[in-house]
Amino acid sequence: MSQEIVAQLVRELKLLKIEGEKDVYIGDDTLGTLEGLSSKKESAALVQESACEKKIASPEAKTHISKTSTPVVTKSSAVIVKDPVQENIIVYDVPQLVQIPPPPQFEIPDGTKEERYNWLKNRILNCPVCKEHVRPGKKVVCGVGSLNAKIFFCGEAPGGDEEIIGEPFVGKAGQLLTKIINAMGLQRSDVYIGNIMNWRPEMETDVGNRPPTQQEMNFCLPYLKAQIAIVQPQVIVALGATAVHGLLGHDPKRRMADVRGQWTTFANTPLMITFHPSYLLRNNTNKAKRVVWEDMLKVMEFTKMPISEKQQNFFLEG
Ligand code: URA
Repeated sequence: MSQEIVAQLVRELKLLKIEGEKDVYIGDDTLGTLEGLSSKKESAALVQESACEKKIASPEAKTHISKTSTPVVTKSSAVIVKDPVQENIIVYDVPQLVQIPPPPQFEIPDGTKEERYNWLKNRILNCPVCKEHVRPGKKVVCGVGSLNAKIFFCGEAPGGDEEIIGEPFVGKAGQLLTKIINAMGLQRSDVYIGNIMNWRPEMETDVGNRPPTQQEMNFCLPYLKAQIAIVQPQVIVALGATAVHGLLGHDPKRRMADVRGQWTTFANTPLMITFHPSYLLRNNTNKAKRVVWEDMLKVMEFTKMPISEKQQNFFLEG
């Protein structure tokens, strides 16, 4: 019976993975059930992680299940490095190594868009909390692009490449985002590209990324909102589940498969939800590309961009 439960859980997780979910909330009941199964050989690997995180979890700690590879558990807590290329599903916990103060409150001084943006960028890059959480020699990252952009792409957090260069989406996922933007008939400089987070969520290793905690995202959210207020885009595109959680708040029942391709609003601005480019790096099929592309067609239509027949039909064949 217990094997069946674990097999069912793994099936469900694999489905969620295919749908592009990066994090799955586990309630205490489920965790308890998993712990109860820990004597079973078949579930040992899964439960070992789960028990480990339960031990260190504080009441408000969030438990995630992630599609990652080789677990690297740090000395201090159960941080496990993600490797999106590999297929394993393991459980890990957000470490309690980051203490985040309440979100910053500020008012951008009056001025032109450029003056307001420069003030904000300076404020973000010198934010003591952001700086404190950036690893030595690495950079705080502020959004970039046109201050008159109609489209504001919002990702989750800088990764290894971004914290070196100090610009969002410059690594592999970023290169794919640039291709998507180009396929829409635009250049990167025509749109605005930002992240929920202004720093790469810290880990004790150089390898891999972990999703930001809700507390970390809450801290950075006023900075994102201020960028939106300056740019005043016609549309925000939320890239991936973490961006959605950051913008709309954590909802364990929300599934990317249900909300992607849907319009909602954030900061009084129409918000289109789509998969993160890294999902397409993992799931490099025409079917997956078409799904994301259809979301981009909706954005193009909404912003009254010309759409050629060729663009209309991208990724339909094969
Ligand atoms: N992924 C993101 O969500 N943001 C980046 O800047 C890079 C990768």
